[in-house]
Amino acid sequence: MLDLHTHLLPEIDDGARNFPETLKIIKKEMEDGVQQIVVTPNFISQLYEPTVQEIQEGLTLVKKALTELDWPVEILPGMEVRLSPDLFSQYNLGDFLTINQTRYLLVDLFETPLVEVAPVLDEMIAGNLWPILAHPEKYVEVQENTEILNPWLKKHVLFQVSTDSLSGLWGKKVQSTAEKLILERMVHILATDVHNPFRNFVPLSYGLEIARRLIGEDAELLVAQNCDMIVQGKSLF
Ligand SMILES: [Fe+2]
Repeated sequence: MLDLHTHLLPEIDDGARNFPETLKIIKKEMEDGVQQIVVTPNFISQLYEPTVQEIQEGLTLVKKALTELDWPVEILPGMEVRLSPDLFSQYNLGDFLTINQTRYLLVDLFETPLVEVAPVLDEMIAGNLWPILAHPEKYVEVQENTEILNPWLKKHVLFQVSTDSLSGLWGKKVQSTAEKLILERMVHILATDVHNPFRNFVPLSYGLEIARRLIGEDAELLVAQNCDMIVQGKSLF
């Protein structure tokens, strides 16, 4: 399995607060059968603005520790970029770190309606990026109408559902929306979005089990084959 959305680099965003926490998260992932992990620190204007270099340096330290510990897990670079209507008036595409330096970029929304960031998404696509929208099930407008995602599906934007949505941690509405999206085959990736080793960690295997009940063996695609294609930069379409 591959976890494509994690906040395990220490002291870079609201994820792991120190190196021991980083290692605890990785250990839990390994115990769950995860072999590859993408680190996706938040990039949120004026709150967290990690540079590509800072992320790469953090990654180097983690990889060194894993080699010393002889833990058989591969850590790959990435970032989770908060979409906002004025993103490109402040930043350039080069400020963002794509998943394993492919064309894939993990993006999220907060409370901004999709329609307001549509030009930003279009600009990313025009700039040869392939956006992956993190946890669409958490956005109220998607909960109200999952069809709002259809135009973006047609533009080959990918959707990632989080395991803690499927466990009910964020409430019934988020949970049922996550299940609906999986049932409607609108989900390409399951990931943990883990921030902390102590709370909120819902393992990938838990999400896989729920997805299996909903769509059978195709659920494997969401934690393995699709993720492999993404880190290799291959198109799912
Ligand atoms: Fe996240």
